[in-house]
Amino acid sequence: MNRVEELVGSMTWDEKLAQMQVVFRPDPAELERWVRAGTGAIFWPRSAAAVNAQQRVAVEQTRLGIPLLVGLDVIHGHRTIAPTPLALAASFDPDTVQETARLAAAEAASGGVNWTFSPMVDVSRDPRWGRVVEGFGEDPYLAGVMGAAMIRGYQGGDLREPGRIAAAVKHFVGYGHAEGGRDYNTADMSEHRLRNVYLEPFRVAAAAGAASVMAAFNTIGGKPMHAHRRLLTGVLKDEWGWRGVLVGDADGVGNLVPHGVAADLLDAVQQSVRAGLDVEMGGSLTDADGRALLAPGTLPAERVDDAVRRILTLKDRLGLFDRPYVPEGEEITEAASLARAQVRAAAARSTVLLKNDGTLPVTPRGRILLTGPYATSADHLGAWTQSFAAPAGSVAGELISRYPRTEFTVEAGVGFYDDDPADLAAVAAAAERHDLVLVFAGEPSDLSGEAASRSDLQLPGRQEELIRTVAATGVPFAVVLVNGRPLVTAGWIEAAPAVLEAWHLGTEAPAAIVDVLTGAAEPAGRLPMSFPRSAGQVPVYYAHENTGRPATTGGTMRSEAVDIGLVGPDNVTEKYTSKYLDLELGPQFEFGHGSGYTTFRYANARLSAHGLRLDAIEAGERAIMNIDVTNTGGRDGDEVVQLYLRDLVSSVAQPVRRLVGFTRRHISAGETITVGFELGMEQLGFWDAEENPARFVVEPGMFGLYPGGSLRATCELTFEIL
Ligand code: NOJ
Repeated sequence: MNRVEELVGSMTWDEKLAQMQVVFRPDPAELERWVRAGTGAIFWPRSAAAVNAQQRVAVEQTRLGIPLLVGLDVIHGHRTIAPTPLALAASFDPDTVQETARLAAAEAASGGVNWTFSPMVDVSRDPRWGRVVEGFGEDPYLAGVMGAAMIRGYQGGDLREPGRIAAAVKHFVGYGHAEGGRDYNTADMSEHRLRNVYLEPFRVAAAAGAASVMAAFNTIGGKPMHAHRRLLTGVLKDEWGWRGVLVGDADGVGNLVPHGVAADLLDAVQQSVRAGLDVEMGGSLTDADGRALLAPGTLPAERVDDAVRRILTLKDRLGLFDRPYVPEGEEITEAASLARAQVRAAAARSTVLLKNDGTLPVTPRGRILLTGPYATSADHLGAWTQSFAAPAGSVAGELISRYPRTEFTVEAGVGFYDDDPADLAAVAAAAERHDLVLVFAGEPSDLSGEAASRSDLQLPGRQEELIRTVAATGVPFAVVLVNGRPLVTAGWIEAAPAVLEAWHLGTEAPAAIVDVLTGAAEPAGRLPMSFPRSAGQVPVYYAHENTGRPATTGGTMRSEAVDIGLVGPDNVTEKYTSKYLDLELGPQFEFGHGSGYTTFRYANARLSAHGLRLDAIEAGERAIMNIDVTNTGGRDGDEVVQLYLRDLVSSVAQPVRRLVGFTRRHISAGETITVGFELGMEQLGFWDAEENPARFVVEPGMFGLYPGGSLRATCELTFEIL
């Protein structure tokens, strides 16, 4: 019998239930009491030595000597902070995501962490929701690719390798669909949307080997996810055959009581465990001395054994039974220079050039005025970092130290909030005496993240006024945005000649921002989430279904750009079409948008076959689409080549376009490269939720293919399934 089965066979009821919880008790004496009582998992007690002390109690002073899972929210870095996940998604570069996760895992593991509560693959289409910063944006395909890359970075091929930690993919499922964008709120949706949008990145993450999954706080169809047997057990465990550990979110089990579906905590625990939860986060299964709060018989014994088996299997896969301690002398407690270089490059790759009339890149010469609250703020780490993270400096500090011969003046003008001191007149006067103004505006990191939803998506405080004040002086300027969510920019965007989206980029944010502003690095990221024109049109996302009455030009002509909702009301004259009377169609900046310091031309889109038979596609055959991309500018640069697809006639309404492939490529000035994309079952199919259980199908008919550097790609090919 193997180790896991032997243990399960010899455990008492109390010992089993104690394994099934993770406790967060900051006080070391209190924590040790829980560990001595056989609790299976703890939150990181903040050093390798403290972890070893607790592991020693678990291994040497409990009856069975089972080591601990040591969990922590390592979200985008441990000591050395990489860009936020939303920013990393903008890199459109899975390797960057994988490598920053590998770095985070190595740092965290050196301190004894063996389990992270990351990645978050919740599709998020409502920027009012503060947690959009923790995920990969609005597109299920992008979220799946990036989530899988992050899992590879954390877990590698073998969890026993040094520097590896177990991932927890979260939050299963639908959390990003919170009504009104208000955190923790109800999510409700059809099976069609659940399957094709919200479940999809979890399915990909489970297939990528995610060691654990975390349940979400929301309800779906009135059932809180912590008690949602059909999705937790029916879909995740049974249908997908996933063998990992399903953990609850913090007090998510207890939250069943205020949700109104459980009478008390013990009722909540019973419902959750029966629904398929393996680990409760909070410590509600035993008391501090390991006495089960639920008597044998109140939970199905096989369900409890299954949960314990999954937990012990993960501990075994991590090598904890053979190697429970970490070498304390090897704990990484500071950001090393190699790590800094790595996150600096990742940060530059995550920036998105929203618009540019040629003002950027700038030559740091003459007199430059630095204004806006983010000129001097060091708040670049983002919403999910811990107090021990390596801090960032400010952009002003970076510029001044890097270019000692340039004359920089700092005049903040405004703060982040309405009641911060402001002096717009001083900025206007100062601007007149300078050759260039750089405005650093944004949202401080506590305005995004958990429990940080906003109803207003404009720059907070008087920052919009600041930008308009600078614009009115006529002095050349550029705006750098530092923020955790898509913003509404309507109040100033037309007045700004150049705008760089820099997100919260982490420890090396200032260096990376300066690299990009000066052209030492190329801004070639793309938006992973649409920027709305107004909070009133939210949710606005590119992969929407057409209505029966899309806004069309003159009511007769079918223009592709209008059909996908990307042109203004001047062209939209038909009354009975789907639009707002007081707003242009589409977002301000759509998913996939971003320019750069060079230009690209697309040509010769071609298919290896113009069609395939359905049975061939189902048997795994594929067609290849190739396209030539030329760097037509004077500089080397990166291009994000994107392939969108539209199923032109289908049994259910399909997205007007959906991303089915992308690749970020470096192309030298004047060079032409050929990029190929595969077209097979995964690209052409969808989940047919009418079937029970849902089936992944490809339907015969025509498909439109739109390769290019953005959603506006005008190149169109058709492909037929016969
Ligand atoms: C609550 C959050 O929803 C979850 O994402 C996080 O991992 C846990 N707290 C633990 O900190």
